Amino acid sequence: MKLPLLEDLGDVRGRSVLVRTDFNVPMSGADDARIISDDFRIRAALPTIAWLTDRGAKVVCVSHLGRPKGAPSTKYSMAPVAARLAELAPGVEVRENLRFSPGEEGNDPAFVAELIRGMDLYVNDAFGAAHRAHASVVGPPQFLPSAAGRLIEREVAVLDRLRSTPKRPFVAVLGGAKVSDKLGVIEALVKVVDRLLIGGGMCFTFLAAQGYSIGDSLCEPDQVDHCRTLLREHPSIVLPDDIIGLDADGVYATFGKRLPDGAKGMDIGPGSAAAFGDAVMEARSVFWNGPMGVFEDPRFAKGTRTVAQAMADTKAFTVVGGGDSAAALAQFGLDGDVDHVSTGGGASLEFLEFGDLPGLAALRKAPNVE
Ligand code: 3PG
Repeated sequence: MKLPLLEDLGDVRGRSVLVRTDFNVPMSGADDARIISDDFRIRAALPTIAWLTDRGAKVVCVSHLGRPKGAPSTKYSMAPVAARLAELAPGVEVRENLRFSPGEEGNDPAFVAELIRGMDLYVNDAFGAAHRAHASVVGPPQFLPSAAGRLIEREVAVLDRLRSTPKRPFVAVLGGAKVSDKLGVIEALVKVVDRLLIGGGMCFTFLAAQGYSIGDSLCEPDQVDHCRTLLREHPSIVLPDDIIGLDADGVYATFGKRLPDGAKGMDIGPGSAAAFGDAVMEARSVFWNGPMGVFEDPRFAKGTRTVAQAMADTKAFTVVGGGDSAAALAQFGLDGDVDHVSTGGGASLEFLEFGDLPGLAALRKAPNVE
């Protein structure tokens, strides 16, 4: 996909540049003393910020943080982020949380006008928010010469390559709690992958669709028919053959595909984890999104750990879609061992599904693009 890039902005010396970043970082601590738990997204914006400041531009960063629902609150203040950025890139302004104004999510033209007042150029480097048609994402490029920052440039190049010209075998591993959140991407991925391995809470709706009893495991009954159709039409979908969980008395147990009454599946079993790991090792391209089980609990982390280790060990081109799978990789100390960890959870899935995002389409229509 061709996007306007930083080089297309011309001479940026002395120009004021509004940079939409995704500084939506995980935080902990009391509401009035928030601490950044992981500054990955702040560090990911540094190449773009440095490119601009090194050339004499005045950079103003804007971002959302959490979901404050249109009203200011200390809990979602950008202050800790501004403090961290001041350490990493001194002299760069960080404005207060965009979502303190209802105009951001409402894509209000008056809010867009406020955002771009005094600005000469716009750069979007917020890949994680590029799937949101919010004011700061789609508004400024209607009025200002605009470009994609380095982070968006790299994210799009990687995901585009996976979507359009993957080296084969191309294996996708999907997990996470809900099928309903991932149906769109499942439909898109089954058309391009050689194998789609499904674990996590959502595998139980698929197992139910195959007629297996799933005890008290997570299930979305309204998705069972849809899962049955997907399984019928796409033999490339692979489900776990064994499951680890708790029996009706809450005792740790390994089950086959059939779970007894009252049992709850919490992770894929050792046989399935080994099979998923082998598939990742044999692939030449792998996309992974979503943990295989409740990995925060060490009893149910083996499936996710096995997939993460295979992602680190395989010779394949490996891409991890943000969110929980990125957190799992980091928890196992393997985040440096994959080719690309996306900064966007929802955005990477929507890009794979649609091949485009509202924030990217807006950049392509900017006044500096022919
Ligand atoms: C993310 O964390 O995925 C992005 O920052 C988008 O956040 P949102 O889901 O609240 O829009």
